[in-house]
Amino acid sequence: MPDSSPQLPAELAALLKEDRRFPPPPWFSTTAHVADAGVYERAAADPEGFWDEWARELEWYRPWERVLDWTPPHAKWFVGGQINVTVNCIDRHVRGARRNKAAIIWEGEPGDHRTLTYFDLYREVTSFANVLKSLGVARGDRVAIYLPLIPELAVAMLASARIGAVHSVVFGGFSAESLRDRINDAQAAVLITADGGYRRGQIVPLKRTADEAIREAPSIRHVIVVQRQAGAPIPVHIQEGRDHWYHRLMEDAPSGCEPERMDAEDMLYILYTSGTTGKPKGIVHTTAGYLVGIYATTKWVFDLRDEDVYWCTADIGWVTGHSYVVYGPLANGATVVMYEGAPDWPEKDRFWRIVERYGVTIFYTAPTAIRAFMRWGTDWPKRCKLDSLRLLGTVGEPINPEAWIWYYANIGGSRIPIVDTWWQTETGMIMITPLPGVTTLKPGSATRPFPGVSAAVLTTAGDRVEVGGGLLAITRPWPAMLRGIYGDPERYVRQYWTRWNDSTYFTGDGAKVDEDGYFWLLGRVDDVLNVAGHRIGTMEVESALVDHPRVAEAAVVGRSHELKGQAIAAFVTVKEGTQANPALADELKEHVVHKIGAIARPDEILFAADLPKTRSGKIMRRLLRDIAEGKTLGDTTTLADPAVVAKLKEKYEEEAG
Ligand code: PRX
Repeated sequence: MPDSSPQLPAELAALLKEDRRFPPPPWFSTTAHVADAGVYERAAADPEGFWDEWARELEWYRPWERVLDWTPPHAKWFVGGQINVTVNCIDRHVRGARRNKAAIIWEGEPGDHRTLTYFDLYREVTSFANVLKSLGVARGDRVAIYLPLIPELAVAMLASARIGAVHSVVFGGFSAESLRDRINDAQAAVLITADGGYRRGQIVPLKRTADEAIREAPSIRHVIVVQRQAGAPIPVHIQEGRDHWYHRLMEDAPSGCEPERMDAEDMLYILYTSGTTGKPKGIVHTTAGYLVGIYATTKWVFDLRDEDVYWCTADIGWVTGHSYVVYGPLANGATVVMYEGAPDWPEKDRFWRIVERYGVTIFYTAPTAIRAFMRWGTDWPKRCKLDSLRLLGTVGEPINPEAWIWYYANIGGSRIPIVDTWWQTETGMIMITPLPGVTTLKPGSATRPFPGVSAAVLTTAGDRVEVGGGLLAITRPWPAMLRGIYGDPERYVRQYWTRWNDSTYFTGDGAKVDEDGYFWLLGRVDDVLNVAGHRIGTMEVESALVDHPRVAEAAVVGRSHELKGQAIAAFVTVKEGTQANPALADELKEHVVHKIGAIARPDEILFAADLPKTRSGKIMRRLLRDIAEGKTLGDTTTLADPAVVAKLKEKYEEEAG
């Protein structure tokens, strides 16, 4: 944890010093879905029976014959079952008392509002499903989606699930090249985008970026363009025959569309995430197991009930948005709040105004955001009425106990539980988390595996660590687990199932377990960074840097950052005859933004005459990390030229002042 994180006032710091534990408040437990810790033992005694029971809460065309078929490392869940995700997220609510309940309450950054009831959502989704069909999209085809956080994003995902197409959502902050690579990898037939979106008062010109991307994406046959704000169109180029306005297509589209009967193991979506190579991985999620996993975790982790107003602030472009903005809450018939823009626009109380305006009861966000709120001060939340809240959550990165306590006191009014949820794009669902009605909380710990989930901390040799630190593993298959990496079955096995054996999943995270069996997440142990809750591969940034004509070599490492958790430090050697100066550093940062997107912009670029390498020529990132962190250097005896690293350290310290 960075030393310089925003400070707590004395009375809150005292809570930390005391090592305070936070048992569930009695008023919460009395009505909670889970108030008896016996669920853990019952699920552990028969995990398949546990998941079988959950699956029975969903609506199927045909029941499954077997809960699990496990041929390590390949799992099939609910084998033989047939189901459609959208029937569970929409139709069954429309048939019952939730027909006119708000499904989505959306607020745009400029202040525009829209509410879609479940019946509205039914009409939008089925009409758009018919639009997709009319453009020739068939079961199994891939549909790329590059949209701002507007209701049409959820509609597009659900419409593709309705007809059995596979969606691949690309976060709107990614560059044209990133979008192009993802479209090409998935061979998407259709791209759904918008004229633009809003971020901090600026227009994000998505269609313009999309045009650049599809110049080199020949699989795209049609582009559907949503007009972000009717009456305020953002100028775009429309190519006759290829590009179509969403609202025009919808005018002629009938509502009502027979859902495809999907096999339990049919692909639902692909979502790209960073790994340890330069090329992002297309994580594959399938239908029934994924739905069961997120349905169950949404209900129990957030203790979701009909009267809740649930808000997860994640962008739908990330897995958190897929599982806990769209599919999980809608499968539970919840009212979901969505907000398009930045938390500090136009003022730093925007989130709290939204909580107040809609009476939000459950609020789920990232530690990076909480640290920013902390820095902005308590006056902002104090101005708003937050007493509708009854549960808080965090996700995406380790939360430092100071930020936890601040969140607990200043947003939760020192009265409501916090669920710190650990999971990944690959796990699809929350894996390590409190159950708010039964778990005694310790600030900074994600507590215990969800019932039916088996996690362990292992040594590199694979021995279980009972108390202490090691590598986090998942030791049993779980229903929402990834089924593969799109187009690269070999990488799936190598990446996740070879660390110990083919039935033990390696998460890439370090963790420790304490005497109570609580898990404390320690961050990534591979070449993946977590910057402001976003996963970025060091190799991706390095590839972007060496793509610049004046760069000879680059090595990228993470260093602790008080707000973002980690910051990106890049060590660069330039080609002969090139002047390494601040202007070039800026140019290189922009180059990375252009190649990947703004989330990957290096925080600092350090020019080096040489990079420290082993005698076999491997760059020693470990030493670069020590330099970036300002630590004493580790073992340098294996270096080809130990003087290189000493010089580099000196230079870094000089420049850092
Ligand atoms: O390092 C862990 C961290 O985020 C990684 C997964 O990133 P991604 O696939 O982008 O999914 C993020 C949202 C689920 C993990 O390997 N991480 C996620 N949640 C936590 C966390 N680290 C600590 N505590 C968490 N609650």
